[in-house]
Parts: sequence; C-alpha cells; structure tokens
Amino acid sequence: MGNIIAEEKETKFDILPILKERYSPRVFSETPVSELELRTLFEAGRWAPSSYNRQPWRIIWAIKGSSTYKRIEACLSDFNKSWATNAPVLLLTAFKKTTDEGEENFHALHDLGLFVGNITAQAQHLGIGLHQMAGVNYEKAKKEFNFPDEYHIATAIALGYYGGNPDDLPEDLRDQEDPSKRTRMLQREFTFNGNYGTITNGLYSSENGLEQNNDQPLKNLND
Ligand SMILES: Cc1cc2nc3c(=O)[nH]c(=O)nc-3n(C[C@H](O)[C@H](O)[C@H](O)COP(=O)(O)O)c2cc1C
Repeated sequence: MGNIIAEEKETKFDILPILKERYSPRVFSETPVSELELRTLFEAGRWAPSSYNRQPWRIIWAIKGSSTYKRIEACLSDFNKSWATNAPVLLLTAFKKTTDEGEENFHALHDLGLFVGNITAQAQHLGIGLHQMAGVNYEKAKKEFNFPDEYHIATAIALGYYGGNPDDLPEDLRDQEDPSKRTRMLQREFTFNGNYGTITNGLYSSENGLEQNNDQPLKNLND
C-alpha cells in the first residue's frame, strides 16, 4: 500500500495537511511510542479550551507489555480486542460529569472531545495515528481503574506510529485501512445558513442570492 499517510483525500477546500491525511489505523508500525512522546501528546491536550476552564478530561495510559495495558485490553469489546492490541499504546479517556459545586457539567464530554482533538492533531504531526473506540465496557473500566462515582469513561484509544501492514488484519478490516476509501457527509447536509434543515449548497445559501454552485467555495476561509 506504500506510504498511505501521504495520500490526500478529496476536498474542495484548502485544509491543514494533518487534518486531510489523518485516519484511524488498526495496524501500527513496530516503532514504539515512548513516555516522552506520550507526554507531548498529553501536553497538546492540556492546552485545549474547556467550559469555565474546568478541564474535565482524565486519562489512563499504558504502554504495551505493562500490566496496565492488559487491564485496559480486558475492558475492550471483543471486536476491538481483535485488532487494538496491535497498538503500542492504549488509553482510556474519562470525564468528570459534575462541576465543583456538584451540578451536572453538560459540556464535559464536549471538552474531552476537544482534548482528544488536540492530541489527535499533535499526534498526526508526529506521524502517530489514533483509533478511538466506543466499544469499551464502561462500568468495568470505571471500577477497574478506581474512578469515583462522578466520572464516566468515554472511550478507549489505540495509538501508535502509522506504517503497519494491513495484511495483519482479518480480511474484512483490511479494506477500511485504505484512507482513500474514507467518506463524509456533504457540507450542505450539516450546515444551515438559516433554520435547521434549510436546503443550501455548502457555503451557498438561497438567502444571499448567489447562484448555487457545488464546485466553487464562496470564499477561501483562510483568506
Ligand atoms: C467516539 C468514537 C468511537 C469510536 N468507536 C470505535 C470502535 O469501538 N471501534 C472501531 O473500530 N472504531 C471506532 N471508531 C472509529 C470510527 O469508526 C472512525 O473514526 C470513522 O469511521 C471515521 O474514520 P476515520 O477516523 O479513519 O476518518 C470510533 C471513533 C470515535 C470518534
């Protein structure tokens, strides 16, 4: 498959290469990820914005070969167990559900997402890929790692350097390892220049009187 990280995916807009080239791998290079590199990733996460600067994210991290790694592995769904142990590092992500005053922190999961987004971007810059997993036994993981009641486990993450061999995967998963096959909704399916559900073509809105045109953006957002 060659250097799949460098393959570009179709986009009409000029976005950052680290965003264009990222994908969620299920095989990883043999190159280990050191604690120093992990600390760099967590530092990138640490500077993420959060509601009231509450920083509700919490991370359990483990390097392959350690007992913590095996304990995270034991919390994964059977499907995720079938490939995630290809990764040199496993994480569990959790968030504090409440504020210091004991109220529900409605934005905690949102903030954890921003934290993981920062980590993902920093990792991509270093040639490291993340594969997030909802397939975790949350209750088991919460107990296993001694989280107090006011925390919730959100995901597990497998991470490592890109460059593994897709042939090491079961056949039905090999295809998904090809980043050129990634698909996304069109912008007009999730952006509305007016009420929810308003039919627009991407940046083009019937309200601003522009002729609808799928091929040209209204303006370059980087200008
Ligand atoms: C919160 C979250 C949970 C996910 N859960 C799983 C999972 O349990 N198992 C899995 O194989 N992939 C999982 N994924 C990976 C998604 O399927 C993947 O991100 C999506 O198909 C888009 O592909 P891409 O990341 O390569 O662009 C998850 C991704 C996210 C963000």
